[in-house]
Amino acid sequence: MGSLPHTSLPDAESSDLILTHPTQDEKYATWRLNSKEWKGALSEEDYLRREPYMETVPLSKDGGMQHWVLTSEASPEGSKRTVLSSCETLRKRVLVGDAAGQVKEGIAYGVGSVFTDPALRGNRYGARMLRELEKVLRNGAEPPECQQQRPLASALWSDIGKQFYAKKGWPAYPSLHVTFAIPGGVAAGDAEAARHARPITYDNLKELCDLDEKLMREQLAKPRSDGKMRFCFAPDYDIMRWHFYRDDIIARALFKDRGPTETKGAVAGPDGKRVWVLWVRNFHENPQDTAKNKMNETAPAEELAESFAAVMAKAHGYARDWKLGKIDLWNPTATISSLIEASRLQSEIVERHVDSIPSMRWYGEDEGEHVEWVANEKYCWN
Ligand SMILES: CC(C)(COP(=O)(O)OP(=O)(O)OC[C@H]1O[C@@H](n2cnc3c(N)ncnc32)[C@H](O)[C@@H]1OP(=O)(O)O)[C@@H](O)C(=O)NCCC(=O)NCCS
Repeated sequence: MGSLPHTSLPDAESSDLILTHPTQDEKYATWRLNSKEWKGALSEEDYLRREPYMETVPLSKDGGMQHWVLTSEASPEGSKRTVLSSCETLRKRVLVGDAAGQVKEGIAYGVGSVFTDPALRGNRYGARMLRELEKVLRNGAEPPECQQQRPLASALWSDIGKQFYAKKGWPAYPSLHVTFAIPGGVAAGDAEAARHARPITYDNLKELCDLDEKLMREQLAKPRSDGKMRFCFAPDYDIMRWHFYRDDIIARALFKDRGPTETKGAVAGPDGKRVWVLWVRNFHENPQDTAKNKMNETAPAEELAESFAAVMAKAHGYARDWKLGKIDLWNPTATISSLIEASRLQSEIVERHVDSIPSMRWYGEDEGEHVEWVANEKYCWN
């Protein structure tokens, strides 16, 4: 994918432009170019290992993940076509509850890695690609014979503020998180509290995901007087494992002398009153720079102050062990917020204005009506 001299750049409105899937060479060329944006703490070599690996994990495999490029069909014969802009989509299960409390299941797409070669930027190729993608996603990105359901929505997490995608039809949703500082030393009582929490590993993860989905369905089944639809990404085993496989491959590349961690979160409390958190690590370009590292959590599904203290103590211990400078928890519910307030944890509420802005385009029947995104948490992100 080389840069074209300006004179031969196609017009972004040209009818010759098509949205299609990249060849293997085009995919690698795109990864090489966009590695500067998204490799984070990884070397380019490790990033070029992570991206194809992520095509093979749960959620992505069997056509769940698709790569897209905007290119020109009318390339001169024998010359390589030019990738004008690129992105990827990931199909996910979603749950929707209407005002009467009827719950149905569907699919939605997470859009990610929207990218234009720096040499080609500002020519409206990004905008044209998103317009073409929108037409495809609205009707289902899979070949007709593989389509089971019409999609209900597409979502993306903007790293370029709230305006760019909102203008293109993906309005921004709340982008708050609570950030917990990780003090150097273990606070008095933390070690004791952490003893009441058990680790979440691949052994008990599925059971908790199933329970989380059941609780989510119960929440969506409550009728609402304000007439609003409620929508959430199903907090299922595949969506969670996608995060953990990604987390593992990054940590393995960065910490070659440390074995993989089996701990994916913590759970505390008796059945029916359990609190649990799942977390992934996010390493800054310099993993030793703990102040810039963070850990993201999904919020617990059931509440109890003592159990909350236990899982948070466990999370703090894990963060300290991996030299992560803070823990971020996205869009806490009222219950979680009151648990945080009642705890003695040091925390601060942050509104993100530029990075990871959840943005969602609704394709449901009642298009235009305001839809509430329930559990708008980190697990939804891709
Ligand atoms: C964002 C990006 C895909 C736009 O591609 P493009 O082909 O230049 O897009 P277009 O020419 O259609 O649109 C240019 C618009 O993008 C806006 N834009 C570009 N970079 C931006 C940034 N970092 N923050 C805010 N807006 C940005 C321009 O201001 C312009 O806005 P306008 O439509 O109001 O005039 C491209 O700049 C890119 O690849 N950036 C690096 C990767 C990235 O951040 N991707 C988005 C991840 S969510």
